[in-house]
Amino acid sequence: MAKKVSRIGVLTSGGDAPGMNAAIRAVVRTGIYHGLEVYGVMRGYQGMIEEDIVRMEGRSVANIIQRGGTILKTARCKDFYEVEGRKKAYANLRKKGIDGLVIIGGDGSFRGAVAFSQEFDIPCIGIAGTIDKDIYGSDFTIGFDTAVNTAIQAIDKIRDTMDAHDRIFIIEVMGRDAGYIALHSGIATGAENILIPERKTNIKDIIESLQEKERRKKLVNLIVVAEGDDFGGAYEIQKILQENLPKAEIRVAILGHIQRGGSPSAIDRLIASRMGYHAVECLMEGRHNVFVGILNNKMHYIPLEKAVKNKGNIGGEWMKIVKILAS
Ligand code: F6P
Repeated sequence: MAKKVSRIGVLTSGGDAPGMNAAIRAVVRTGIYHGLEVYGVMRGYQGMIEEDIVRMEGRSVANIIQRGGTILKTARCKDFYEVEGRKKAYANLRKKGIDGLVIIGGDGSFRGAVAFSQEFDIPCIGIAGTIDKDIYGSDFTIGFDTAVNTAIQAIDKIRDTMDAHDRIFIIEVMGRDAGYIALHSGIATGAENILIPERKTNIKDIIESLQEKERRKKLVNLIVVAEGDDFGGAYEIQKILQENLPKAEIRVAILGHIQRGGSPSAIDRLIASRMGYHAVECLMEGRHNVFVGILNNKMHYIPLEKAVKNKGNIGGEWMKIVKILAS
């Protein structure tokens, strides 16, 4: 028999992502609808350890659906890697009588949830909130769509000046371990090359194709690189390209944290609302230690352990599309 939850906590952890506020709102309001007491844990796992936990009401989440960032704030909490930290966190939850937890975050936050739920008797439900989309088992993660759209807007602007000057541009987007932002924003802006951590970068091929283009007087070339690409970041690539194409004008733009901010897109608000609602339903149904994902537009409950053990895969066909469309 599933234990009935009566007081739940919600937190955001790791890198923030546009749409986290919409997810918090959905958790709080669905919880209240079911007659639960809902608590917001500030700064992710850090607030659990430091007992920075506040009661949430329906009105605490008014007027936030359209806001980027997270009203609960977030942190990458080193103390939670240690069992001592997790013990303190559990004791604080017990003190408040919290008997269910919703964790909105990415891969690292889910790892923390796995350890915590294995050590202590508290159901943890994850909501995939990360601009990187690096969570196995969901077509969407909260924030990804907004981040890609932010990157597209910036790249389109850079393309105007790149084209006017006949330059090669290397644009670095976020993604330490995952190339989805690079892949999606690169395809959507017609990039000639997209470099991602999931696939080995063949710099020799890129150099040869640029040299061949230079001979044809096609001097404009857009390269989108994920920050975690195996060859290194945009500046390393610029250096080697410049050595091999001394006449080319090669410029770098690093988009950085601009990709993490801003008002969430319609898709991000929608999936955040659905995931938040279903996370509370999960707790009500007695599910534990799963995350709420969306596959083929249906909700799926995937064990957190499975999510952290598996990696997403960007297949070779994507790269074929990039090559054909940019030729
Ligand atoms: O949240 C994911 C992410 O934006 C990665 O793409 C990036 O590598 C990392 O966070 C940057 O983290 P920080 O904000 O700590 O610099």
